[in-house]
Amino acid sequence: MTAARSRASVGAAITPDVFAERFGERQGDKLPASLIAFASHLHALVRELRPSRDEWRAFLNLLIDIGDYSDRRRDEWMLVSDLFGISALVEELNDRRPPAATPNTARGPFYRDDTPERPLGANISLDGKGEPLSVSGRVLDLDGQPVSGALVTTWQANSEGFYENQQPDHQPEFNLRGRFTTDAEGRFDYRTIMPSGYPVPLDGPAGSLLKRAGFPPRRPAHLQFHIAAEGFETITTHLFDADDPALGSDPLFAVKPDLIKRFRTASGRCELNCTFVMVRMRQERLR
Ligand SMILES: [Fe+2]
Repeated sequence: MTAARSRASVGAAITPDVFAERFGERQGDKLPASLIAFASHLHALVRELRPSRDEWRAFLNLLIDIGDYSDRRRDEWMLVSDLFGISALVEELNDRRPPAATPNTARGPFYRDDTPERPLGANISLDGKGEPLSVSGRVLDLDGQPVSGALVTTWQANSEGFYENQQPDHQPEFNLRGRFTTDAEGRFDYRTIMPSGYPVPLDGPAGSLLKRAGFPPRRPAHLQFHIAAEGFETITTHLFDADDPALGSDPLFAVKPDLIKRFRTASGRCELNCTFVMVRMRQERLR
């Protein structure tokens, strides 16, 4: 930095421009522009909220608490990203799939990559507790052709709103989880139980902050899916129970119209029929 340039910002009002002057030219590096944008929005926020010194210190202490609460098993920063809608926004901005394709959602913290493969028709409720639900579905491509051999991994909460890995002493390992391979018609089916909605974790600093402000913590009831097939973009998504009253206030902003399904027939039986539409990998679409 030259002496003239250095003197130019001495005593100047603290603005994004003054902050921006401090960076050198770095061709092709997105970092300075990103930091300038970050500072610009942060300056605007501070000017709008006008925190006292104590309030700013309390905010910095909150950031320390969130870091202290995070580890490999519990990522409180990811929860902050989720609860403020940032995870959903990043997903939305990166989603270039055609409207007919099944939308992606954030995967969330309860997925297990070591989920066991099960035969079509298997019951993934290993403890038999809950209201039985039959799930049948198809995996298709954008032309409506079946995707055979797709791996459909599903995981869900039990009727009390807990995943198996949240209750290792109460639920059998891999309860309500299964990985199925679609048949020649792209079909899969399995038996399970009706899932319950559940609150996002409120015991950490992020959850307790939003709870204090009256933010609704309950996620609507859903099944989660991860669908992988060779030559196709992987789908990670939810299917939500159309009857759940919390559909409009999912704290993770994952509910999309295409992902709301009826889990009950008109006669009251618990049955879900679903279709997932996969998109071929980009380089294959360009051929
Ligand atoms: Fe979930």
